[in-house]
Amino acid sequence: MGFPNVRLRRLRSTAAIRSMVRETHLHVSDFIQPIYVTYGTGVKQEISSMPGVYRFSLDTLKEEVQEIAELGIPAVLLFGIPDTKDAVGSSAFAEDGIVQEATRLIKSWYPDLLVVADTCLCEFTDHGHCGMVHTHERDGHVHAHVLNDESLDLLVKTAVSQAKAGADIIAPSNMMDGFVGAIRQGLDEAGYENIPIMSYSVKYASGFYGPFREAADSAPQYGDRKGYQMDPANAREALREAESDVLEGADMLMVKPSLSYLDVMRTLKDQFDLPMVAYNVSGEYAMVKAAAMNGWIDEKSVAMEILLSMKRAGADMIITYYGKDAARWLSEK
Ligand code: PBG
Repeated sequence: MGFPNVRLRRLRSTAAIRSMVRETHLHVSDFIQPIYVTYGTGVKQEISSMPGVYRFSLDTLKEEVQEIAELGIPAVLLFGIPDTKDAVGSSAFAEDGIVQEATRLIKSWYPDLLVVADTCLCEFTDHGHCGMVHTHERDGHVHAHVLNDESLDLLVKTAVSQAKAGADIIAPSNMMDGFVGAIRQGLDEAGYENIPIMSYSVKYASGFYGPFREAADSAPQYGDRKGYQMDPANAREALREAESDVLEGADMLMVKPSLSYLDVMRTLKDQFDLPMVAYNVSGEYAMVKAAAMNGWIDEKSVAMEILLSMKRAGADMIITYYGKDAARWLSEK
């Protein structure tokens, strides 16, 4: 039996009936708001490729955090811009590192707001890679190899120092092999067995991170991240990445970027029972912003449609620079 007995428009005829059959919902509790923290005083510096997103110094941070907390957003994701960089990213795991300081402050102001710490070295290394680098010159070119096992120790130190500062969730984004297992063991040995790991399990070597690298000053000084982040062409490999993290004790799995990888999100959601995280990355935000600022698209409807598509694909939560706006838009209706 088909048309005219079947008429799909019957369930679309009023706002009330559409709301009853709606399959997917966005809620403010879905959002994790990224924050960039830096040194200095009185800093609230807009990132040119991300209008509406700022770098905050520790003294201007409170107002931002208050706004996020009062909107009902449950979590923030911290990125730090340090004042010194070196080959091993020492300021990533310094007790008085920028992320550690910001974490302590945020937890003292808003104990119930969850602090998620991004565990990586690229913002803190002078070469801008996510781990320790071995370089050699050939034919006038610098060739860089990011060392895997040697980098794990530094990442474990970073995660432990973040937990010690009060981070509620550790989110390692470095894409070394074995990072979840190493960090799990390190956290447990330091007495943080109840701190969950939100693993950037499936992280692609993506052009969509461009604005982030401006914001966090973390572009690689030579080479690229293709030797550790995934090839955008691969979907089956994502299952292997995710599975290895599950076996190593990950508590949540992430797909990043999100918009161009919704197929991967759906596949992972169907294969694993862990909570799924979508990362609506900087370049995705910048594209919508730029088009909206030109008057080419309607910002609110496009941004909300994108966030909804991530949930429809299987995301249980979304890291998004649109968190505050989306929270406001949701409370409008
Ligand atoms: C660190 C890291 C990156 C992002 C989050 N953590 C950048 C990268 O891998 O180059 C990107 C986030 C965004 O684009 O919003 N490794």
